[in-house]
Parts: sequence; structure tokens; C-alpha cells
Amino acid sequence: MTPQTTNNLAFNASPILEAKYLTRSFGGLVAVNKVSFVVNNNEIFGLIGPNGAGKTTLFNLITGLIQPSSGQLIYKGDKIIKLRPHQIAAKGIARTFQNIRLFGELSALENVIIGRHIHIKSGVFNGVLNIPPAPIEELKTKHKALELLDLVGLSDRAFEKAQNLSYGDQRRLEIARALALEPQIILLDEPAAGMNPNEKQYLSTFIRQICTQFNLTIILIEHHVPLVMGLCDRIAVLNFGKLIALGNPAEVRSDPAVIEAYLGAE
Ligand SMILES: Nc1ncnc2c1ncn2[C@@H]1O[C@H](COP(=O)(O)OP(=O)(O)OP(=O)(O)O)[C@@H](O)[C@H]1O
Ligand SMILES: [Mg+2]
Repeated sequence: MTPQTTNNLAFNASPILEAKYLTRSFGGLVAVNKVSFVVNNNEIFGLIGPNGAGKTTLFNLITGLIQPSSGQLIYKGDKIIKLRPHQIAAKGIARTFQNIRLFGELSALENVIIGRHIHIKSGVFNGVLNIPPAPIEELKTKHKALELLDLVGLSDRAFEKAQNLSYGDQRRLEIARALALEPQIILLDEPAAGMNPNEKQYLSTFIRQICTQFNLTIILIEHHVPLVMGLCDRIAVLNFGKLIALGNPAEVRSDPAVIEAYLGAE
């Protein structure tokens, strides 16, 4: 297989997630319409398109929050539609939410620990015997959660209630919680929304760093076009639920259909 020349030099094409004619209707509206694509292991895969194009719906399908009307999703060779969200999470697909979903009354640390518990619960013994984790396990969990907070630059906010964190910090906390699952894929839904230019730049570097450090595959929904173009190996473009383009940033940027539907002519 020929390695692709991309932003992420470690990227080497081997499929990890595949959507086949994936479709989801809400009443008469087809929010995701026969969408097919392959995401490769260790790739940073962008998903862009106008408001209401179906991007978040696609994430909701991949993570099992909603079921497709038709079509298939294959993760590491297995069909994953009909699995419950926690089963999909346990298989190694984590996400963040466009509308941040943290436990506001809990500390940053506790929010990450909750993400980690999904991982622990997927362990054979706890799953079968339904026993609480041993104190030593709790300590390890706490230690790991603190490491993750440090990684996202929030170690000094560990004991702050999530609701008291700035918008940018809450988005980083969501990433730490997703990482706590020790996933193989992370779906990031508009992680730069509400961040200032410095935070966006930091986020971009950070996403590339975790992709390499944890051998992660990342699917990124983002409206900040320079960030997407600078970061992603390939980009899929949705418009009214349909995939209208898929290619590397240069190909997508110059695609007339994408310029008309989303990017504009500048
Ligand atoms: N649960 C639902 N019930 C009914 N319609 C829905 C539901 N979820 C999404 N939709 C509709 O599906 C379409 C796609 O929505 P979606 O949230 O996936 O868009 P998006 O690409 O993420 O947009 P944005 O960039 O604004 O976040 C929209 O028309 C939306 O109103
Ligand atoms: Mg959305």
C-alpha cells in the first residue's frame, strides 16, 4: 500500500471505520443520505459542511445514540449498528459533544474519572461479577485522570466544578474525558467552537500530538476552515445529508461543489 502524502506523516492507509450507504431520516427529512466513506487507522479525518448538513447526526449514528434508517457501519471488520452507545464506547469509539455534556456540579477530575469508569466496567471481571473497583484500582484511576488533565492543560483546575470552567477549558475537559476511555477513535464535534485564536492554535497542535502519542484515529467536525485544512489528512464534505466531496485539503478546497455549497469563492 502506498503511504499518502499528508499532514500527518505517520498516516498509512488501513481501514478502521467504514460507512456504507448510511442513511437516517427524521420524518420526511433525510439528514444523512446514502453516505459512504472509509476512515483509515491513525488518520485525522475532517467532516465539514453547512449548518444542518448532517454532521452531528453522522456522529450520533457512529456512536449508537441513534440508529440508521438503512446502511451499514463497520468498525475494525465488525458491524456496529444496533449496538448500544456503551457497547460502542467499550469497543474504543469515544466522542465529544457539540453542546458540551459535562456534569457541571462535579469537579473536572470527577468528570474524567467517569469517562474512565466506562473503560474499567468493560473489563472482564467487573463486567461479569459487577463488583466495585478495589481501592488500588480507584487510585490508579485517579492518577490516570490527573495525567489526562495535565495533558489537556487543566491540572491546576482539577478540583474546580466543571460549570465554573471557561468554554475553552470545558471543551478540553471533554477531550480528556473521551481520552479516559482509552479509545482508538475519537469523534470531536466542533472542539474549537468558542475558543480564541490562541486556543485554536493550541488545540490544533494538541490534536496532532494525541493522534501520534496514542495512535488515535480522529474524526473532526469543525467550522473553522483554516484549522480543518491545516490539520486533516482527508476531508469529507456533507451538504443536505449527502457526501458531495472527499479528498485531501487541496482537492476539497478547489472542488467547485464545495466552494458553492460551503467555502465560498474567496
Ligand atoms: N433528533 C432529530 N429529530 C429531527 N430532526 C433532526 C434530529 N437531529 C437532527 N435533525 C435534523 O437533521 C438535520 C441535520 O442536523 P445535524 O445536527 O446533523 O446538522 P450539522 O451538520 O451537525 O449542523 P451544525 O453545523 O449546525 O451543527 C437538521 O435539519 C436537523 O434539524
Ligand atoms: Mg452539528
